[in-house]
Amino acid sequence: MPSIHIYPNARAVACAAAHHIVESQLPGQPFRLALSGGSTPRLLYQLLVQPPYVNAIDWPQIELFWGDERPVPPEHPDSNYRMAYEALIQHVPIPPAHIHRIQAELPPEQAADAYDQHLHKNFPNIPAFDVMLLGMGTDGHTASLFPHTAALHENSRWCVANHIPTLKTSRITLTYPAINAAKKILVLVTGAAKAPMLSRVLYGAYSPEELPIQAVKPNHGELLWLIDEAAASALPPNKKHRHHDGV
Ligand code: 6PG
Repeated sequence: MPSIHIYPNARAVACAAAHHIVESQLPGQPFRLALSGGSTPRLLYQLLVQPPYVNAIDWPQIELFWGDERPVPPEHPDSNYRMAYEALIQHVPIPPAHIHRIQAELPPEQAADAYDQHLHKNFPNIPAFDVMLLGMGTDGHTASLFPHTAALHENSRWCVANHIPTLKTSRITLTYPAINAAKKILVLVTGAAKAPMLSRVLYGAYSPEELPIQAVKPNHGELLWLIDEAAASALPPNKKHRHHDGV
């Protein structure tokens, strides 16, 4: 059964995610964190660079990766890297060599090949991220694994370029083999617009071709859904594990 945690609002969800990140970091050990794109994680990144979290994280040990990226250069407004740079990276002392950016200024296939090779250089066996952050689109996508797209069927590569007809573009995305190798996956879902889809994903029929996030099932790790009341508003009342604070 999924581990579902409901919080009063988006800020409390971000606090809970920040708490999980702090608690997951082992002293003096490299900590590999895979960032999500989109707008939801911005609040989390902004919290992480403020007390108490900023003082509780061993920043030089943090290694940042990305779960997906749009096909734009790093300075583009749509860039997931740019959002993370503005909200997180520029504020904390993460060594530049620990910022594992997807080179999305390259053609998507080339960018995906480069990142796939880069991941294999950094993870000898499996890409066991210590924490992977994911969001969920209102169409049930996560990372850039969109409904009815080719990347849903990629079972060996860790990163691919995925053509998304509905967006008329290709994006670079980690695949299920990479995502499901994570030690801990935090799915952050906030806002009323996500409520109908969240209820379908969690309690509707299993149909990952339609609802790709349903196939996010860590092989050995933990999967936690961190959700605010607005996004939880369509969930069956007896299925909720409610929190009334940030953790
Ligand atoms: C992206 C993300 C994507 C995102 C969802 C939710 O690059 O946009 O990886 O999967 O998590 O679309 O986006 P919001 O957080 O903006 O609702």
